[in-house]
Amino acid sequence: MELDGLFGYDAVSLSSEGDSVVIIDQTLLPWEERFLALRDEEEVREAIAKLRVRGAPAIGVAAAYGMYVAFRRKVKEGGLDPRGADSEFYRIKNLICSARPTAVNLSAALERMAECFKSVSGKSLALQLDALRSEADAVKEEDMAMCRAIAEFGAELIPRTDMGILTHCNAGHFAVSRYGTALAPVYLAQSRGLAPRVFADETRPLMQGARITVLELQKAGVDVTLQCDNMASALMRAGKVDIVFTGCDRVAANGDTANKIGTSALAVLARYYGIPFYILGPTSSIDPSAASGDDIPVEQRDPSEVTDLYFERRIAPAGVKVYNPAFDITPADLISGIVTERGIFRPPYDFTNLKLNETAV
Ligand code: MRU
Repeated sequence: MELDGLFGYDAVSLSSEGDSVVIIDQTLLPWEERFLALRDEEEVREAIAKLRVRGAPAIGVAAAYGMYVAFRRKVKEGGLDPRGADSEFYRIKNLICSARPTAVNLSAALERMAECFKSVSGKSLALQLDALRSEADAVKEEDMAMCRAIAEFGAELIPRTDMGILTHCNAGHFAVSRYGTALAPVYLAQSRGLAPRVFADETRPLMQGARITVLELQKAGVDVTLQCDNMASALMRAGKVDIVFTGCDRVAANGDTANKIGTSALAVLARYYGIPFYILGPTSSIDPSAASGDDIPVEQRDPSEVTDLYFERRIAPAGVKVYNPAFDITPADLISGIVTERGIFRPPYDFTNLKLNETAV
């Protein structure tokens, strides 16, 4: 596919020795491309909680490899017998799972690892490790395949050159196994000779749009313009936005979608200006057990991200109360379509009984 070779490395991979999860530290982008080797469950939990590795699918891949690496370490240290391994496995799983609450890919990837572990329960530790490694590899490989398919379906929404695409946060190569979700169709369209113009929201307070989306689009030679989050309405009114593409952290059964704080504001604006608003994400981000957005836990983060981080000096008087939810819920009826690896789902959404291999109609 035309996307191959676009980026020199993945955001998350397993080291060649199999003893660490290698991530690019996304908190240092765009200034520095530094790789970290995460060797145990504490380091994996910290990296996810601090957004060194971030983006729902990338978190899922990091959690799966983290589970394998941390369990392998305990096995290599000795003292575990196959039966006693169970409590250690679930202790590691629960610790990694506590890192962040909103992206369902985290708990879903760990549940997959647990199912795999159950299937080899009581077998030799070597066999358990082999099975866990294969399962973690599968989480990543399946995510790559999903991103490729999302690129194809999403590219159908970019039928002509010079389309203006507004995006929020970072749902690109760094946020997944490879290629991205919201940005994958952009790369594909570009590789097919179209010239999409991307408008990247800076995405306060952690600036994933300014720092990461701009970096990866520039690397890929895509036309990108940066604007502050509060400029979206002006941008739309000026006629510069043909379509909005964002990622997702969790989609409820009724289509309500949790994504980076500020996403729902774009959906409201897009409806006002008559601009199509699309969510792009793998079906692994759909959580049929959440009936609606009210059932999705929204992470609250440290006030200092709003008042201090990325400013030369603190910008608000000390002691001010700060509201800092990391995500918001976009109501399903504002979403024109949800682009997945199985096709584009259209409203009214009902993912209650989303079956394996069910495709969008
Ligand atoms: O807090 P972050 O940076 O992990 O939030 C990321 C997002 O909101 C992304 O849009 C989402 O995870 C989809 S990534 C393909």
